[in-house]
Amino acid sequence: MNNIVPIPLSIGNTPIRKCDFLSEYFKTNIFVKDEFHNPGMSSKDRPAYFMIQDAIQRNRIQAGGTFVEASSGNTGLGIALIARQLGYKVKIFVSKSCSQEKIDKLEEAGASIELCDNSNGLQDFQSTQFRAQSFAAKEQNAYFTNQYYNTQNIRAHYRTTGPEIWEQTDGQITHFLCGIGTGGTISGVGRFLKEQAKAIRIWGVEPRGSILQHYLKHRTAPNAVRPFDAIEGIGRNFVPGSFDPQPIDQIFQVEKDVSIDMAQWYYQHTDIRCGFSSAAVLASLKCYSAAMRFHSDDNVLLFFPDHGSRYLSKLYAENSKVSTSNAHSLNG
Ligand SMILES: Cc1ncc(COP(=O)(O)O)c(C=O)c1O
Repeated sequence: MNNIVPIPLSIGNTPIRKCDFLSEYFKTNIFVKDEFHNPGMSSKDRPAYFMIQDAIQRNRIQAGGTFVEASSGNTGLGIALIARQLGYKVKIFVSKSCSQEKIDKLEEAGASIELCDNSNGLQDFQSTQFRAQSFAAKEQNAYFTNQYYNTQNIRAHYRTTGPEIWEQTDGQITHFLCGIGTGGTISGVGRFLKEQAKAIRIWGVEPRGSILQHYLKHRTAPNAVRPFDAIEGIGRNFVPGSFDPQPIDQIFQVEKDVSIDMAQWYYQHTDIRCGFSSAAVLASLKCYSAAMRFHSDDNVLLFFPDHGSRYLSKLYAENSKVSTSNAHSLNG
């Protein structure tokens, strides 16, 4: 990392591992980049660090001020860990639907939390985004990092995640798959990888009903935006400024229920609990493997932004078993 603002935390340089189980199942070489090895246990430490560094360098906040963010948890946690280490206060506006595990972590990291209702979208007065913005505007010495519209979000992945992936795969990667929330990961990694080799396929994943697949195809938002079954961290009903469609080849839409099934299926076969958006990436493999048409010598990288320990109650509770119909097709 570019350590201009020094922090006693080691962010990035997360490992990539080959997954033999998935490679065998999908008959190609499948690798996973495990971002839970970051200090805040997610990929969002990367943009958090870049956004904080940028604000301090540009004197947008003074010592002892308050960093403010609207977050489903992971970006908030990254900001809390980094900003608290640097002596700042942290206020995070969190959606009511956020898992209790993430809220507990935010409180442990010293963030002050406000629960908000995002059910009417992020432009609504009660939403995390709106309330964070208005809080920062009224509070003295407060800075809204605003991950949805901060260029440092894409830059963090362009400068760190992309180059790491290229080096760790010796430039042999053929496909990159990740979930899309703010768009920072796919835009930054995608841009970097396409600059190295145009043929690399950059594929995104979002919940069915989210609008970015439509935007990628038509370069405009759909006329009617319907509520959809959100998967934590991914899926949007507006086009974030940090979403750059340019390097993206395709976006696949998946069902929330299939993602839950896939998390449990993956756990049963590998003993690894993946996060919710990681399970959505697995669901895209399962639902679209015919269309994806992998060759046996492809090198497919799945981006896992966080870990299943954040979703014990939502994905791995005793009573949430794999549904019979899906269990049949998954094992088939
Ligand atoms: C768990 C998880 N997965 C995926 C994403 C989406 O990443 P990005 O915002 O870079 O599109 C996020 C974003 O917060 C996340 O927390």
